[in-house]
Amino acid sequence: MNLKMNSLLRCACTAVTICLGLPLSHLSAAAPPAKVKPLSSYDPQVKALLAKMTLEEKVGQMTQPDISALQDPTDIENLFLGSLLSGGNADPKEGNSLDAWTNMYDEYQKHTQKTRLGIPILYGVDALHGHNNVLGAVIFPHNIGLGCTRNAALVEKIGKITAEEVRATGIQWAFAPCVTVPQDIRWGRSYEGFSSDPAIVKVLGEAAVRGLQLNDLSNPLAVLACAKHYLADGGTSFGTGTGGKNTLDQGNSEIDEATLRQVHLQGYLTTIKAGVGTIMPSYSSWNGLKMSANKYLMTDVLKKELGFEGFVISDYNAIDQIGKDYKENVGITINAGMDMVMIAGRHREFVKDLLALVKEGKVPMSRIDDAVTRILRVKFAMGLMDKDRSQLADRKLQSSFGSPAHRAVAREAVRESLVVLKNGNQALPISKQAARIHVAGKSADNLGNQCGGWTIDWQGKTGEVTPGGTTILASIKSAVSKGTKVTFSADGTGAEGATLGVVVVGEKPYAEGFGDRTNLALDQEDINAIANVKQAGIPVVVVLLSGRPLILGDALNQADAFVAAWLPGTEGQGVTDVLFGDFKPVGKLSFAWPKSMDQVPVRTGDTKTDVLFPLGYGLKF
Ligand code: BGC
Repeated sequence: MNLKMNSLLRCACTAVTICLGLPLSHLSAAAPPAKVKPLSSYDPQVKALLAKMTLEEKVGQMTQPDISALQDPTDIENLFLGSLLSGGNADPKEGNSLDAWTNMYDEYQKHTQKTRLGIPILYGVDALHGHNNVLGAVIFPHNIGLGCTRNAALVEKIGKITAEEVRATGIQWAFAPCVTVPQDIRWGRSYEGFSSDPAIVKVLGEAAVRGLQLNDLSNPLAVLACAKHYLADGGTSFGTGTGGKNTLDQGNSEIDEATLRQVHLQGYLTTIKAGVGTIMPSYSSWNGLKMSANKYLMTDVLKKELGFEGFVISDYNAIDQIGKDYKENVGITINAGMDMVMIAGRHREFVKDLLALVKEGKVPMSRIDDAVTRILRVKFAMGLMDKDRSQLADRKLQSSFGSPAHRAVAREAVRESLVVLKNGNQALPISKQAARIHVAGKSADNLGNQCGGWTIDWQGKTGEVTPGGTTILASIKSAVSKGTKVTFSADGTGAEGATLGVVVVGEKPYAEGFGDRTNLALDQEDINAIANVKQAGIPVVVVLLSGRPLILGDALNQADAFVAAWLPGTEGQGVTDVLFGDFKPVGKLSFAWPKSMDQVPVRTGDTKTDVLFPLGYGLKF
């Protein structure tokens, strides 16, 4: 890149990174937002129901066990449970098929019909990039890729499709969108964030909520959204994570309140405006105090100052991290403003402890009533209390599950998310008439690597992960002309004689703290694959699949063209749409791309560090 170009790009980046709170001309907006009915408008019905409830029934509403640890499903009626979830690996016993998920949901929901008041459960899952636990669901790019599209209308459409696929299994609640603003790409959850720029996060987070909730929770195709992880989950300092000395996940954000608000709160302002029904406090701490225990942030800021009318759901066993005594943790979190608690394994203990705390006067009844009011508002708003409406899955929705129409939108998202970092010798676009294309790299024919974490398994898995998708190798084969020969070797050997090489490399799947890394250099295996193709003396196009910018080192010099494709999901043809010039690249970096580990972290608003590619960068051709 020449100097002039570099400085032009840097100006563009400055415009993006300092625009906190300013008009967002670089983002394409969705249609003017529809007005959402306030949740408190359901208070008359809620009040009437609350008046009939016993303390046990109220505490049950506040309890959300993970099904993997719900040994006895009659706990649903015996403890009056308000909600269930499937955490990352909590699958139906019969496996991950669409039918297995739907049957499981229906079975659990039927238990609520045996309770005196018949209040249905809300069932929650991590539908983070599509209904990603279910085989055959369309898997969209992870948020980091969507951030590069800057396309709010598209993100809203993705939310809508995700909601439809989630509803096809009966489930009504997605723990999404993640509106984190990651500050340090060593964090394993960087890809869950749209951007390190809150100006991007706030617009796309709002769009995602509007898509999932359809601006009307009573719509049977809407799912309840959950903005997470409140607050500053992406602001933790390196070395403070719960996974050991080189980790960040679930750690401590050592920042002042101005930064907390300007950087990390932005996505909540807009998602609340869009009517988000739930918010999940983070595992992490702010200046030493766990979010699950932070009354100022949960009650004073979120509920009082920002007027959030929905309910707050804890993260998975997060309250266990407050202190050593479980009962004390229960009291601290509920008094701080937690409305529902996500629990794997000790839900009976939670119920017992919370009942005791109320009877001992340590948790006031007014707090319980506030929590249950918030939960019931959402249930009324969603039509769960409507006696004429079945709460079992609407199996007619299964006809569009993983459909070509849904896949087409994912393909659109993939092609808009690609960021072209380098295009030397006009290596791109590739001619579909090329005599022979040699495809290489461990991720070229690997749908699991393409989808990343949170795909079927919590940690994702390398290799064949879900049916119905298209790998990049398969996409290349279907894009080229009849006369073009496509050869493949994962290690890049045998490329001699080809017209050009396409090498697909990057990270293997991971989720959460398992992805915390000190060193973000490319794997040796990837460096070798690129070098092997280069040695054949042909132009080399590198496609990087990763959950964050990686340190490219000499691989960037070796490549004629270099494309960041993030974690695109099942629709590999979105990648080839750009590679073969059927779609002109539009993607812009949503994170700054450092030259070396010495430059990490590049924090929001940092325009001084001389990074390799600034936030906002992306070539066109
Ligand atoms: C994650 C959340 C997720 C929850 C439920 C936790 O480990 O931090 O993002 O929603 O699990 O699966």
